Amino acid sequence: MSWGKRADMTVHEDEPFNAEPSRAALADAAVTPADAFYVRNHGAVPEIDPASWRLRVDGLVEHELELMLDELKERFVEHEVTATLQCAGNRRVGFLEVRDIPGEAAWGPGATGNAVWRGARLTDVLEAAGLREDAEHVAFLGADISDEPDPPEAFGASIPLDKATAEEVLLAWDMNGGPLPTVHGAPLRLVVPGYIGARSVKWLERVTVRAEPSESFFQASTYRLLTPETDPDSIAPGEGVALGAVALSSDILVPDEGAEVPAGPVRVSGYALAGDDRAIVRVEVSTDGGETWSQAGLLEEQGPWAWRLWETEVEIGTGALDILARAWDSAAATQPEDPAHLWNPKGYVNNAWAKVSVTGS
Ligand code: MTE
Repeated sequence: MSWGKRADMTVHEDEPFNAEPSRAALADAAVTPADAFYVRNHGAVPEIDPASWRLRVDGLVEHELELMLDELKERFVEHEVTATLQCAGNRRVGFLEVRDIPGEAAWGPGATGNAVWRGARLTDVLEAAGLREDAEHVAFLGADISDEPDPPEAFGASIPLDKATAEEVLLAWDMNGGPLPTVHGAPLRLVVPGYIGARSVKWLERVTVRAEPSESFFQASTYRLLTPETDPDSIAPGEGVALGAVALSSDILVPDEGAEVPAGPVRVSGYALAGDDRAIVRVEVSTDGGETWSQAGLLEEQGPWAWRLWETEVEIGTGALDILARAWDSAAATQPEDPAHLWNPKGYVNNAWAKVSVTGS
């Protein structure tokens, strides 16, 4: 089953369905069409009967809530946020050249996309439930069961309370102006702009306010940054660093990796994404291995939670050439040069300089 996706997606796994678009499919679209938006699933897409579906809100709240979708839509003001999702495993393939990562899919550059999400603010729903004083984290559970943990469990995650009560975090039922597609979490998903994709729980059924982070396998035992020598299969829950805010990154989407381009001026374009509440201030491109950099032009801003598209023109001669790109953010941070210095056992957060190798002719 292809879940309405373009025929040219790279399918990493049919069941559970995991797929990413090509560079070309992502290129130059400020908003990624739903049929080109990557899918990252840890379990089978659950079958949900919309009539009996409920969102439960419990834990450290004054009054528990149980909401039908229509109630959610009627009781809470609808808001729109344009936000980029990016999987922590995006560009893992760049790590595999450094050292193998057994058991993890070789995600390329396409585990990211930008969409317009509509729904209720999580903070409004939490306010209706009434937060108790000891509330520190908000945990989420989806309806899908993953057999990656032993025993199998529902996909879960949590975010700190200050993020959960930020106005950009949505309980979304709409994507790019249409109903949220099943494979992206219908009837309801969480969207946590500025955080790794794994925190944006799909097929959301339960919101639990807690004093501690979620004990879910996907929060406590994976999606964590481990030291290179750690064996990810023998860690205790809580080891390493839980990934939250997404890292500063950028990529080249045009020309494509391996493209043959006519010698002369060539248009180069891509995206840059700043973590959490930072902004992209500069994108640079190099054709001499990073000795010198030229400034790319930043295209129109689409709000604080969306990627920033950029473009420039570089002069290309004949023969093989690497085009490099790197972004800078509003905290004056830039991307690291080499994935070898970032390699980690689960292959997360490869935000090294972007590189495409082309041949001029
Ligand atoms: N939510 C549930 N219920 N199950 C999942 O497997 N995958 C997470 C997140 N939410 C997942 C989930 C991960 S790892 C990512 S990167 C994003 O969803 C991907 O969202 P998408 O498939 O809509 O692109």
